[in-house]
Amino acid sequence: MNYENILIEKEKNLAIITINRPKSLNALNKATIEELNHLLITLESDKETKAIILTGSGEKAFVAGADIKEFSNFNTSEGSQLAAKGQELLFDYVQNYSKPIIAAVNGFALGGGLELAMAAHFRTASSNARMGLPEVTLGLIPGYGGTQRLPQLIGKGRAMEMIMTAEMINADKALDFGLVNHVVEQSELLTFTKQIAQKITNNSSTAIGKAIKSINANYRDGINGFHEEIKCFGECFDTEDFKEGTTAFIEKRKAEFKGT
Ligand code: CAA
Repeated sequence: MNYENILIEKEKNLAIITINRPKSLNALNKATIEELNHLLITLESDKETKAIILTGSGEKAFVAGADIKEFSNFNTSEGSQLAAKGQELLFDYVQNYSKPIIAAVNGFALGGGLELAMAAHFRTASSNARMGLPEVTLGLIPGYGGTQRLPQLIGKGRAMEMIMTAEMINADKALDFGLVNHVVEQSELLTFTKQIAQKITNNSSTAIGKAIKSINANYRDGINGFHEEIKCFGECFDTEDFKEGTTAFIEKRKAEFKGT
């Protein structure tokens, strides 16, 4: 597939995906969602790739939301389909991805943009970043998981206020709310985020995949997170990474994980 709306760069075991529609402040149209889905599927089976950073091109926006121009004349059925398809192809896929995905929020993360950042496993932000779910100003509600993930991340009362007022919060407030883990200057954001990602890639990727699954189990209906943790914990004992990690500890050397 030829990517027209996203860029991919690889650095050691990291893949950096940049959403690249700067004229529309990287708004997510259908094609971008499909390209992201295709690339993520490819990277999931790529043995070299151990972690992914998602960011936006330019200095102004991470992603300014779903592409408003694309759905402005939709009806109920088309609107529901937009949300269902988007959640399936991208937002749920990102949340449940077996490799770590970090969103480096480099500017506006609004509507679907904040929803994408929230679907990622965690977030870093530049000091100029501004985040919000302004859908009610368009006569809409968030449709890419925002009504679910925002309260999970910052609490129900804060999420209610942000969604009802449609107001943006700045990076420091997002840090205070726990919506992002770190705030740094924009010029340092990628380097800083890569450093965190590199630390992650030194660890067992099989164990990290199971940690993601266990943590996410707490947010899935009908699944008992403690049971999922027990299952995933047990499965770790069958991996080469477990043998390597424990042997390296006993032999007082650094573990060399193969991700198997
Ligand atoms: N969709 C389509 N185009 C967008 C866009 C979006 N979400 N956000 C920005 N753009 C376009 C603008 O239309 C403009 O294009 P033109 O130059 O062709 O007019 C260009 O990007 C630059 O934007 P602005 O001129 O508006 O830039 P600004 O600096 O004055 O304002 C902004 C920046 C505050 C982010 C403003 O662009 C804005 O409010 N954008 C919309 C944010 C929004 O409402 N997002 C939610 C979308 S709905 C959604 O996401 C639904 C869902 O949950 C599924």
